[in-house]
Amino acid sequence: EKGEYRHFMQKEIHEQVRSLTDTLAGRVDFDKGLIQLPQLKLTAETARKINKIIITACGTAQHAGLVGKIYIEKIARIPVEVDIASEFRYRDPIIQPGTVVLSISQSGETADTLAAMEEGRQKGAILWSIVNAIGSQAMRVADGYISMQVGPEIGVASTKAFTAPLVDLYMLAVLLADLRGTLPVEQRKKLVNDLRMIPDLAGKCLEHEPEVMSIARDMKDARDALYLGRGINMPIAYEGALKLKEISYIHAEGYPAGEMKHGPIALIDKDMPVIALAPNDPWYEKMASQIEQAKARGGKVIAVATEGDKNVEHLADSCLWVPSIPWMLSPVLTVIPLQMLAYHIASIRGLDVDQPRNLAKSVTVE
Ligand code: M6R
Repeated sequence: EKGEYRHFMQKEIHEQVRSLTDTLAGRVDFDKGLIQLPQLKLTAETARKINKIIITACGTAQHAGLVGKIYIEKIARIPVEVDIASEFRYRDPIIQPGTVVLSISQSGETADTLAAMEEGRQKGAILWSIVNAIGSQAMRVADGYISMQVGPEIGVASTKAFTAPLVDLYMLAVLLADLRGTLPVEQRKKLVNDLRMIPDLAGKCLEHEPEVMSIARDMKDARDALYLGRGINMPIAYEGALKLKEISYIHAEGYPAGEMKHGPIALIDKDMPVIALAPNDPWYEKMASQIEQAKARGGKVIAVATEGDKNVEHLADSCLWVPSIPWMLSPVLTVIPLQMLAYHIASIRGLDVDQPRNLAKSVTVE
């Protein structure tokens, strides 16, 4: 039931306060600073044996994987590759003893993701999944899994099933590092404690919906849009662009901002809105200068920025505000205004938001 909302997508965006609360419940012991993921069945012995993790997924789930790479490499210092499932399955990938294949899937029934898991199984990988649909194939065939605690997701555009796996991957990184004995206690406690504020801060992002709607009204007739991000927020540029294109049918591209001068900057003019992810993270200065460069070429810049950031407010034409948060968790927040932006643009354009043309919720064919 949609309740007070016009579409399931809008309802699911708003459900993120609850889904993020449920994602933490029972997994995080804030007093001891410990993470538990029992369904993963991960022992210290296995954790120490892992020498590579290959994350494989499609669409939005793959974008979550790109953020997860940074978590696992930064916190657990295990090399991670992220592969689109439809590529991985046909590439004869290298899997050695100690390789984990970790797939991420809301439905747990995506054909390419299941085939990638099968490829991993054949080659002797340890198989893990992060899945929403209980009892789905991706859950059943895995050696261990993390179940997303988000409830059914009806809208074709994935929202709450994106933010939950981000937190799952962060928790996984902390657990791996802890079991491998490489994470100093104080650092572990800090990383775990940082999770505490996530649901509330997601709620603060939602409070900015009226401003997002006014930016959506300005952007509704755009033909193209460019989403730029760097580092941990680069995958959020991909995700923001995917949300916009799939439900509003506006052509959008997500790009690593550092690649602009290698081609895409040629596209910038007054008719090309540039959405720049510039929260308070280690790539902030680089993004600020990227905004200046886009402005210098006549671009119209909408920045995703931290509340109270006068510098970005001054540089950009308008801002989508997110509250301040430790940088590693920033993608959980920065994606929320972009979900709302895509939703409101599609809704103003009178489109069938929950059931966009040519798309299915679960892609069970190749
Ligand atoms: O069910 P899955 O998570 O495996 O689905 C993967 C993609 O098909 C899915 O994320 C798709 O990209 C969404 N429509 C994006 O909003």
